[in-house]
Amino acid sequence: MLNFRTRLILIHLTIIVVVLAGSGFGAYWMLSRAAHNQLDASLLALAETEAAMIRTSKEQPIRIHEAPAGSTQQLSFVRIDRLEQIVDADGQVLVRSANLGSTRLPTPQALLVRLAAGETVFETLSKFGDEPVRMVSMPINGAGAPIIVQVAGSLDDVRKVLNSASLLFIAMTLGLLVAVGTVGASLTRKVFKTIDNIVRQAHRIDESNLSERLPHPGTRDEIGKLVDTLNEMLDRIERSFEVQRRFTADASHELRSPLSRLRTELEITLRRPRDATEYLETLGSCVGEVERLTVIVEELLTLARLDAGLERNSTDIVPLNLIIEEMVERMQPVACKRRVWIILEPSAPVTVKIPRGSIDLVLTNLLDNAVKFTPRGGFVTVCLAADRSEAIISVSDTGPGIKLDEQSKLFERFYRGSVARTNDVSGVGLGLALSQAVVRSHGGLIEASNLPDGGAQFLVRIPLILKHSV
Ligand SMILES: Nc1ncnc2c1ncn2[C@@H]1O[C@H](COP(=O)(O)OP(=O)(O)O)[C@@H](O)[C@H]1O
Ligand SMILES: [Mg+2]
Repeated sequence: MLNFRTRLILIHLTIIVVVLAGSGFGAYWMLSRAAHNQLDASLLALAETEAAMIRTSKEQPIRIHEAPAGSTQQLSFVRIDRLEQIVDADGQVLVRSANLGSTRLPTPQALLVRLAAGETVFETLSKFGDEPVRMVSMPINGAGAPIIVQVAGSLDDVRKVLNSASLLFIAMTLGLLVAVGTVGASLTRKVFKTIDNIVRQAHRIDESNLSERLPHPGTRDEIGKLVDTLNEMLDRIERSFEVQRRFTADASHELRSPLSRLRTELEITLRRPRDATEYLETLGSCVGEVERLTVIVEELLTLARLDAGLERNSTDIVPLNLIIEEMVERMQPVACKRRVWIILEPSAPVTVKIPRGSIDLVLTNLLDNAVKFTPRGGFVTVCLAADRSEAIISVSDTGPGIKLDEQSKLFERFYRGSVARTNDVSGVGLGLALSQAVVRSHGGLIEASNLPDGGAQFLVRIPLILKHSV
């Protein structure tokens, strides 16, 4: 199998050969036609001269008007290599030029019939004498009995011109082929050298040197565009590798902390025998750490499943307002304990196609955040609205809101803002990342912003399947 470079060169050469051969053949054909036409015209002119002379000297015996050698002192360009013959209507030779010798120009029956019909006939006699001959036969009327003038000339000159021309064309074609081939090959070599460099560099790039880029040829052509596109793709791959790397580091850190706390607590307790109350206390605290670990592992698992695209299909059609009511009721006791009031604004029924578990997870996270970040005496407001294309759940609060520089990072995995860190609020920074991933997997989006009076507002946009009012 030929490689791409050879195929490209072959295609180019084939096109050039076809174009050159086509134009060479066309030029040869036109030249040949012109040479034949010129010869025909000179033969016809001579035949017509002969006919005119015969008509004007009716009384005199018919003769060929050829200039005998040495009969004139004047310079003459009349061609003397023409063969002439005058025959009667039956083809009987009346006179012929001396250069015909004992031969005669042919007058087959078919020719005589055409001449009798008044036609002037041109034909090529390929087997007449040593050279191919072109002949015109012309009937003459008005000179008594119908007679025929035949003038023939050698095609040898025409053939010679055409042979020289074809040699010239072949030489030109070969010359052009070599020139175009050389230029084409050097251009192709240059282009392929650039591609080779790109391929070599692409082979070198792996996860250890993802920051390297492919060499740009410095042109805005197809190769330049290809390199730009591949480099942009490398940017994206590098970014997602970085996110993955950070995620793995954060995940192991988050898992290691509760594990080492568990281990320390158990080791200290086991150093000496203790009474039942101490054991119970230690076990209780261990259960707390294990619960925290379980939450992290479950959230990581859900994220991994979402990343792998395993949690995308859903056939549940869920009534959003009923679920929101339920979730708010479930959160009320926790909120009450923190002296935060959750207000649910009434809304018309809205249904969406999303698994019940997903919507529970998102609402739990948003309500949990709103309640835990809102100071005592504050309010959390939940409302549901829908337009033609999407359902929008809004969870807003009267808490500290989100700092401007933190807004873009809120949905990153393991990100915890300053409010969470300074106030020592519980959490691992996975809630919003997980909720966003869940909503995105169903074609929706969560947006975070601040209300004019300072609190945070989270809008969950879910594509709408069915909406009806009662
Ligand atoms: N209602 C809110 N008000 C202010 N900040 C919030 C609110 N909800 C989330 N945040 C910020 O977003 C961060 C990420 O939230 P999340 O992913 O749920 O993690 P966690 O709740 O474990 O801190 C929080 O640490 C906090 O800084
Ligand atoms: Mg949270």
